[in-house]
Order: sequence, then C-alpha cells, then structure tokens
Amino acid sequence: MIIVGGTATNGIDENIAKAIQLKLVKVEHRVFPDGESYIRVPEFIYDKDVLIIQSLYPPQNKHLVELELLLDTLVELGIQNITAVIPYLAYSRQNKRFREGEAISIKTVLKLMYALGAKSIVVVEPHSYDEMTFFGGTVKIIDPFPYLAEQLSLNDPLVVAPDRGAKSRALRFASKIGAEVIEVQKERDRVTGEVKITNIPQFDFKEREVIIVDDIISTGTTIANVAKNMMGAKKVIAVAVHSLLNEVNYNKLLQSGISEVIVTNTIPTVYGKVIDISPLIVQQL
Ligand code: R5P
Repeated sequence: MIIVGGTATNGIDENIAKAIQLKLVKVEHRVFPDGESYIRVPEFIYDKDVLIIQSLYPPQNKHLVELELLLDTLVELGIQNITAVIPYLAYSRQNKRFREGEAISIKTVLKLMYALGAKSIVVVEPHSYDEMTFFGGTVKIIDPFPYLAEQLSLNDPLVVAPDRGAKSRALRFASKIGAEVIEVQKERDRVTGEVKITNIPQFDFKEREVIIVDDIISTGTTIANVAKNMMGAKKVIAVAVHSLLNEVNYNKLLQSGISEVIVTNTIPTVYGKVIDISPLIVQQL
C-alpha cells in the first residue's frame, strides 16, 4: 500500500505515513490564473492499494474538486483499491431537504466520490452517522470523543450537549471518564440561520467544570449561547472536532465565558488548543 497526500492534509498525511511506515507520494498541484485546479501524481505507482488523504476544509469546493480529479486520475493510472481518508467531510451538515427544493449536498458529494472510484472512505466524526449510507462503498467512521476525553485532564466535569444532535457525542465523551451529561435544546431558523436556546435543564452549575461538546464550531453561536447560561460554573471549556473559527468568532466564544477551546487538526486553525487526530486515525485504519 502507498499513501497519496492530497492538496489539503494539514500534515496528517505525513503523520500517518510516518507512523505506519508507508511511502508517501505528495500530489503536485497548482492553481491556474483563472482559478482552476491542476493536479498531477508525480510518480508511477505500482502498488494496487492506495490510501488518499484529503481533508475538505476551506476552500471546500476547491479541495473537493481536487479530490475528484485525484480519484479519477488514480483509477485511470490502474489503481484498483482506493481508500480516501477524509478527516473533515465538508457538506456534512446539509444532509436533509430541510426546505423544499434544497440540495441534499452530502448525498451528492458521497455519490460522486464513489462514482469516481473510492472503494472505501474513512471519515472523522461526520455530522450524522446515518448520512454515510449515501456512500456506495465501505465506510469507516472514526469516533474521536473517547480519545479527546482521554487527552484532557478534567476534574469531575459536567458534559453538556448543546443540542439534540450533540447528545450522542457528549455521551461518548462522558462515558470514557465517567462524567454526567445534560442536554440543551436549541432551534435554528432555517432561513436566517439564527440560533435560539429553547431549554436548559434545571441544574446547579456552581463551581462545576463544564465541558460543552460538539462536532463542529463554525460561527461559534451555538456554543456561545449555551456558555452564557452556565451561571456560576468554575470554568467552561468548549470541545469540538472540527473548527472553522475565525478571529471574530473565537473572540465571541471567549466573551461568552468560554475559558478554553479545544479542537483537532482535521482543519488548520490557530484558535484554541489543537489536538492531533493522526494517532487515532492510524489506530483505526
Ligand atoms: C449543528 O447541528 C452542529 O452540530 C453545530 O452545532 C453547528 O453547526 C455549529 O455551528 P455554529 O458554530 O455556527 O453555531
């Protein structure tokens, strides 16, 4: 087997290749003046099994097209067995037709990958595990929460799920360290995107170490709104797998009472503490 490092890896390709001592072929790429992507596999690959590493972090559309170009090229070069390791799967949140006429974006993304020759995919915490059935081949989902819980030294924490979708993530995190879990209810306006907390369980947060656990932080609104309600907590920590934070949204989190933001390197970021997810991917390949 050989590893092909795509155009968006954040170093995870190198970490994996080093850990499992496989040859890493880095894809050559550039962008034409008109914005189109060029990619080239710079070496003749004899091996018939290839592990592509390509995350779909911003600019998502560019990285997605580059993954498609790469898959099709490898198939044409005679590779028969391709696994795509996608640490961050973009479009994962648009997994339903929430409003009439909407694209079910993740379905299209996964159908395309399969059609272009990926036999299997490995994804770190997609937005919903069910949506992965849109992929026609084998799927391996990496659950990062027990691993993340192990990496942090927490003192009798209270784990908070910021919405119904996050409940299973909070439970997976909490069960590793024997912590209690509570679930907040939130509603998002599908047109304006506005997030409203509709219910917070009656709880004494006083002097508790609160950990808000989610799959992704984007604008930070979900976590900030929850953090503002954790009155009297000793500290409030946000843990998310994928972080799309910019400076403004990171500051919004800090101003809401969050003292620490912990994320992984599925997406490059300079905001918060970053935990390397590569060892877990290696363990589960
Ligand atoms: C939504 O259900 C997700 O799990 C996240 O809670 C959400 O996408 C986070 O987005 P934001 O940081 O913009 O509130």
